[in-house]
This record gives sequence, C-alpha cells and structure tokens, in this order.
Amino acid sequence: MPASRRGSGSVTLLTGQTIAIHTRTQDEEDLPHATKKTMADHLRKYESLFTLTPQRMRMIVEAFTETLELGLNKPNQIVPMIPTFVFGWPTGQEKGDFLALDLGGTNLRVCLVTLQGEGKFEITQTKYRLTEDQKQDDGQKLFDFCAECLNTFVETNMGEGEGQLKPGQCLPLGFTFSYPCSQERIDHGELIRWTKGFGAGNTEGRDVAAMFKKSLEKFQLPIQLTALINDTTGTLIASHYVNPRTKIAVIFGTGCNAAYMEHVKDVPKIENLGIDPAAEMAINCEWGAFDSFEHEHLPRTKYDTIVDDTSNKPGEQAFEKLISGRYLGEILRLVLCELIDEGVLFLGQNTYKLERPYIFDTAFLSLMESDPTDELLMVIGIFTHFFALETTLAERQFFRALAKLIGRRAARLSACGIAAIVSKMGYLEEGCSVGADGSLYNKYPGFADRVHEGLQDIFGDKGRNIITHHAEDGSGVGSAIIAAMTKNRKDAGLYLHV
Ligand code: BGC
Repeated sequence: MPASRRGSGSVTLLTGQTIAIHTRTQDEEDLPHATKKTMADHLRKYESLFTLTPQRMRMIVEAFTETLELGLNKPNQIVPMIPTFVFGWPTGQEKGDFLALDLGGTNLRVCLVTLQGEGKFEITQTKYRLTEDQKQDDGQKLFDFCAECLNTFVETNMGEGEGQLKPGQCLPLGFTFSYPCSQERIDHGELIRWTKGFGAGNTEGRDVAAMFKKSLEKFQLPIQLTALINDTTGTLIASHYVNPRTKIAVIFGTGCNAAYMEHVKDVPKIENLGIDPAAEMAINCEWGAFDSFEHEHLPRTKYDTIVDDTSNKPGEQAFEKLISGRYLGEILRLVLCELIDEGVLFLGQNTYKLERPYIFDTAFLSLMESDPTDELLMVIGIFTHFFALETTLAERQFFRALAKLIGRRAARLSACGIAAIVSKMGYLEEGCSVGADGSLYNKYPGFADRVHEGLQDIFGDKGRNIITHHAEDGSGVGSAIIAAMTKNRKDAGLYLHV
C-alpha cells in the first residue's frame, strides 16, 4: 500500500480473500451523502438501543440463574440443562487412538486423536464443507454423508502403512453433535430442535445416535459409536485435561452455549435414575434458548425481532440470536437497510447487493473494528468490493461504531451467561477458569476483553477472579477424551448409565 494511502491497493482478509481498496481525496463531494452531524445523531440513537448498563446486566443474571435452576429441577424446560452422562473430570492419563466426528455448524470434521497421557495428544484431521441443501434435506442423508466422510478418512489415513488398522480392531468414536439433544445414556441423544439455521427433515424428536449408527452400518466400518457429545461438553473436558482450573466451558461461534460440572445431588430431575448423589456429571446448559418465546428478560431491538421473525425457527434461541456469529452481521445489515429506507445512506447508489438477507458476514464486523487506518481503508474495501457502494469517512466511522455496539452487546450478554453459572455454583470467591472457543471468541477483536469487563460490571472487582481463556479443541480432542473415559468406565464394569 502506498505510504500516502492515496489511490488503489489491496488488502488480504482473514479468510484469505484479497479485496481491492480505493481511496479518494474528495469523497465528501462525489455523491449526495449524510453529514457528519446526521451520522452522529443516528449513532446516539443506536447507542441507547444497544448499550447494556451494569444494572440491567445484573437483572439478566438473576433471571438467568433462576432459569438454570429450573432446568435442573424439572424435565423439558426451555433451557433444558441436559445431563450428559459424562461423569467427572478426566485424569489426564487417558490413552489410545480415538476417532472424533464433529458436526457443528459450518463444517464437518473427522479427526484421529492419539491420546498420549499426561495431558498430551496428537491429532490428524480433515474438514468437509456442508452445503445449504445438506443442512435442510433429509436427516438420514446427512448422517449418510457423515459416515461416507468417515469412510474416506479411514481409508486414506488407516488403510495402509504405520497407522493401518489391525484385523479385528474396532475404533471407538466420539460423535460431537452440537445441537440440543436430551440423553438417556452417553450413546443416545434425542434431537430437541435444530439450531444455527439447520432444518434437516425427519430428525427432530429422534435418536440421532441410532440414526448415525444406521448410516455407519451401510459402510461396515470397524468403528463403534462410544459417545455422543455436545461441543461445549467436549470443550469442558478437553480444557480441564490441559488446565485443571477449568470449571466452565463456553462456545461463542456460529451458535452459543455453555457446559459445566454439576453435583448429581443438585440435579433433582434425575433423582429417579439412582446415580450416586456424590458423583459429578457434566451439564450441557443449551443456554442459547434462554428467554425464548416469552422474551421477558433480554433487551431486544426491532432488528433482533426481525432476525427472529424471519429465521427458520421464530421464537427459539432468543439469547443465541443476540450473541452468536450467525446473527451479528445480519443485525448490522438490518440497521443499514433501515437507514437506506429513510434516505440517509447511499443516496443515488444502487444498494441491491446489501439488501440480501445474511449477506453481511459477521467477519466484516471484526474487520471493520480492527481497521488500523485513519481513513478506514478496510471499511472502504468491504463496501466497494462486496456491495459496490461508495462511502464517506463519516459513514465509515458510523459503520465501525455500529459494529462496536453490536459486538460489545454480544460480549456483555455472554458475560451475563457466565456470571449466572458462576453465581449458581458459588465460584466467585475462589475464582475459576472458563475455557472458551468459537470464531467470535477467537477472531473478534476485543471480544474476550469485553466479556471480562462485563464480568467486572456485574460482580465488581471480584469479577476479575473469573478468567476466560482459549480452550482446547473440544469437538475433536474433547470428544476423544470422553470416548476414552467412557471406554474406561465400561472396562471397569460400570455399565450402568455409560
Ligand atoms: C447449539 C448448541 C451448541 C452451540 C455452539 C447452539 O446452537 O444448540 O448445542 O453447543 O450452538 O455450537
């Protein structure tokens, strides 16, 4: 890029894509545009809509904590607080080869994990992109595709040479299926509802582990489905494997959710199962569903309502829709569309490209927020390259400020969820580590800092005792560790509930 930052250049996005950048010296005069003052007035309006005060956050935490309790007390609640049948923490000594299959949101991943003990592991993996059709088509077909990818992976990586499977050898598989499933045992899971835009038919209400086993049989693979897990549960276990201070795991990615370790005696709804009350079991909260349908506690703007009403699951995943990567870009896009309709933005330009739902990727918010240039060259690049729109500096500053408001609200709401678990479990005084993963947490600039700032707004100085850190790969390594823990329990004759 020229030192003067005039003229044209290019910038490579985090995604690897290269975009053209054009800077102009007289952009304020080229096209009709909103004045700096108009943009500042609009920004004030959005500031009041998207800002969460510490007091409001504490109210949310209180309602959230009650909701978590309710989910533990009674079955079939909105926030289902799912017992996972993952009993206690790993010892760090789990060893052996395990397969992990990860069906999360955007990709399908197959991993071979070698656990070496002492918290060490090696991983070989392949990713497959899912098409929109596969997400909406018949569920059995989706699982057939998973089995097919697994087959290719096994043939490629374990067909010959050093890693070749021995005759009669059967590999344990951990299946990370990151959607709410109610479980009766660890290799069972009835899909409560699809989330994150998935909608494959004939799947909700059915045991996805059984469906997947059926697909596995078609390929006659030497694989045994040992555990069906959620990505948060995997993250909890994998993070604890390497950092035993971890007590909670959270995912802030395409979707959002949390898991933590609970005392069985404090889960009244499973009293009838006769599990030792002194035992511990991981709980998959499925907190993305907090405040669904009723919309009593969360501050929803009209843009959030539109996102919800036009989604494939109106009313559902109310908390997730304010936070997760699938929705943040769309929220910003809806604000821009409103200002286009009001005749404030892009006068005289064709805005059709921006009018397509979900076209504004959440990655653009990250990029806008991290633009280091005074002229906001990255923002220019995004709008010219992807939407064929010219922008003024005042508009670009407004877009960036708006991204900040939306990103900050997401992080502060995330802090409310973490605070609810911390309060419920009484972790504030002693403090705890929270293993966190997902594209938003890992790639959005300042997300973690904003979560920490939110925790201090809720708890005061003591909020500093709660620290999030980048988690180990829960869906791959965590899944393998859980498969290993389950195998060890079985080998030790603990058949009940494994
Ligand atoms: C799902 C959870 C998952 C989370 C993060 C949510 O939409 O319901 O099961 O843990 O996304 O992937």
